[in-house]
Amino acid sequence: MMRIRGSVAIDLGTVNTLVWVAGRGIVLDEPSAIAIDSGTGAIVAIGSAADALAEKEPQDINVIHPLRDGVIADLDATAEMLHGFLRKAGSPGGPLRRHAVVCVPSGATWVERRSVAAALEARRRYSVQLIDEPVAAAAGAGFDLSAGAGGFVVDVGGGTTEVAAVAGWRVVRAQSLRMAGNAMDDAIVNAARSELGLILSSRAARQLKTTLGLTGGPEGWAETVGIDAARRTPRVERVSGEMVAAALEPVVATIARAVQEVLSDIPSGIAEDVVRGKIRLAGGGALLPGLPERVEAMAEIGVTVAEDPLRCVVRGAAALLEVSRNSGVPGVGG
Ligand SMILES: Nc1ncnc2c1ncn2[C@@H]1O[C@H](COP(=O)(O)OP(=O)(O)OP(=O)(O)O)[C@@H](O)[C@H]1O
Ligand SMILES: [Mg+2]
Repeated sequence: MMRIRGSVAIDLGTVNTLVWVAGRGIVLDEPSAIAIDSGTGAIVAIGSAADALAEKEPQDINVIHPLRDGVIADLDATAEMLHGFLRKAGSPGGPLRRHAVVCVPSGATWVERRSVAAALEARRRYSVQLIDEPVAAAAGAGFDLSAGAGGFVVDVGGGTTEVAAVAGWRVVRAQSLRMAGNAMDDAIVNAARSELGLILSSRAARQLKTTLGLTGGPEGWAETVGIDAARRTPRVERVSGEMVAAALEPVVATIARAVQEVLSDIPSGIAEDVVRGKIRLAGGGALLPGLPERVEAMAEIGVTVAEDPLRCVVRGAAALLEVSRNSGVPGVGG
């Protein structure tokens, strides 16, 4: 059956957007960003090229991250960005109606989700099925949802952290936090400002986060460059692992607490699946040094990082596309 050829799976994330095309695999993986000429309103760049301009404040260019806090903050910009990505991905147009499975942040309202779907339906003629991020993450993390098995997944993205027990393509229990990778970056920016008198870009903060994390990394410190808050000139600084770990602590503690809460509420019928299958971490935040150990200490159940966690959700959405041909897999208001 080749009916799904040309069908697409899309992970529309706060920080990254990925596109998978049937028969071709993942064809696009770029930051969720769009740069607009503030004078003319024309699109200057999308994806990596747009994100590279962020915080550099080039004249007359406005860089938008349209999904900034796990919600769709700018619907028009989201639709334009998605349209541009699909064109770039070489997704076929034409008279045939293709199927699209789209994962949008769970913080998005029903109206926002439907608007994204409607934009794709109108401009690309897709028939769109929306999918819950934790379900896609669980499928992408390797749980065999078609067989009705249960699993426990923690997807730490940029804008949201989803903690969920799932079974048979459905959410069983879940919590969604508006706190993930971006909040970690902000916490590091704030700590550097108050403790070192140093103004960091989000990019510099993200670099410190990924190298030092909760463990301090291999060296226990890392070098960064920011603007001296008093003199307003660039300054190079050594940042300690302790400072970064302390800054991240409130966010990490909130995530760990959510894991414990959801875990304490799961039905007995999936307890064994969860213990045997372990808690699987997905999303870019799964790569934070020390996070798996931290979650494991709280949960007292094995924790593993899903393979290629940044691509978990799009892989799971693609898996749904492949099984939904011949079974009644549910979508979300799709
Ligand atoms: N090695 C790493 N250590 C810690 N954080 C990381 C690492 N690599 C990426 N990240 C973070 O992961 C986040 C992006 O993850 P991901 O692409 O899963 O988010 P998203 O799907 O776009 O967001 P959301 O699911 O909230 O909509 C960013 O905040 C990024 O800084
Ligand atoms: Mg995500």
